[in-house]
Amino acid sequence: MGKKLTVVDFFCGAGGLSEGFRQLGFNVIYAADNWGPAVETFKLNNPDTETIKADVLKLDASNVPKADIVIGGPPCTEFSASKKGGHGDFKKGLILVKRFLYYVHELRPKWWIMENVPRLLQTLPDKFTLKELGVDKEGYFTIPKRQVFIAADFGAPQKRIRLLSGVYPTPTQTHAENPVTTLEGNSYQKWVPMRHVIESFPSPLNKPREKYFVKDPIYGTRIEETELEDHFGDHSVMSEEEADRNRRQKTQHPYYGKMKFPDDLDRPSRTVMATQFNASRETMVIEMKVGKKTIYRKPTIREAASLQCYPVDYKFVGSNPTTKYKLVGNSVPVKLSLALANAILKKTD
Ligand SMILES: C[S@@+](CC[C@H](N)C(=O)[O-])C[C@H]1O[C@@H](n2cnc3c(N)ncnc32)[C@H](O)[C@@H]1O
Repeated sequence: MGKKLTVVDFFCGAGGLSEGFRQLGFNVIYAADNWGPAVETFKLNNPDTETIKADVLKLDASNVPKADIVIGGPPCTEFSASKKGGHGDFKKGLILVKRFLYYVHELRPKWWIMENVPRLLQTLPDKFTLKELGVDKEGYFTIPKRQVFIAADFGAPQKRIRLLSGVYPTPTQTHAENPVTTLEGNSYQKWVPMRHVIESFPSPLNKPREKYFVKDPIYGTRIEETELEDHFGDHSVMSEEEADRNRRQKTQHPYYGKMKFPDDLDRPSRTVMATQFNASRETMVIEMKVGKKTIYRKPTIREAASLQCYPVDYKFVGSNPTTKYKLVGNSVPVKLSLALANAILKKTD
């Protein structure tokens, strides 16, 4: 790439969406979020970016630098199926979506990408009046493209499904449920199973060993066990009672279908959630032998981060596991952002 393409990230969170662009050499010049741990995490991993802690509703567009690409993931809580059984406050959710679109209108980037849950499709019109976005002019702002993607199709060991709206070249699929070569000659590798991540790490219940290395399951780089953060300890372990409740939720639910207990490690994981309950249908459950005993646990924060395709040395700032799980679970899988960045690179001379 000659001159580095520039990126601005609204609602940057821990930085999953930016990370793919950063890895491919784009210059992420500005990022904003109103949550302290997200801002600190983003800053630590992107020291050259101007990262600000601010309510995106209150930013002044004239203070935000212009960039080639504007990206952002306005919070999807109100649109998510888990919020009030899918009856969240869509109007409230749209306020932040419209604010993101307002910045796109003001900054006029060549490409822009808004990430959200697919349920937003039910509410997102294909155009807004400029007045609805808070621009004091006649006319419309259109959203030309909206596509739903499965992160596993781009090499993530996770079946997270996301809606991407905006102006962007379609990323190239690299993986599929079964390896195939299509009539057009595209060949896809098999989806990466969750086992690939879980078995790359030593048992979290052991102590990190001197002079032992962990191989990053996504990028193949190595890190000393003693340097590995957010993995060792018992933060992922369920009590027997929690494991039991979990089993019942999944295998004996009165009206929802049966689910696997423990999770099937030979498939990509279910969606990494921002809230990690120890006993809910969304909880991932890993079975482990400790001596003669079988125990059940969630992925550690580090394993969850690898399921989201963060490099093993990516740092998360938070005073407790709940905060760190939330930072990780909120993110766009980096393999998806890499695929997007790559597609944009291919369109750039
Ligand atoms: C879905 S997460 C973004 C994840 C991020 N794109 C990534 O890939 O890591 C949404 C973020 O929006 C932030 N947020 C929510 N309301 C906000 C507001 N009014 N102003 C700024 N940030 C806000 C949250 O703190 C959260 O970090």
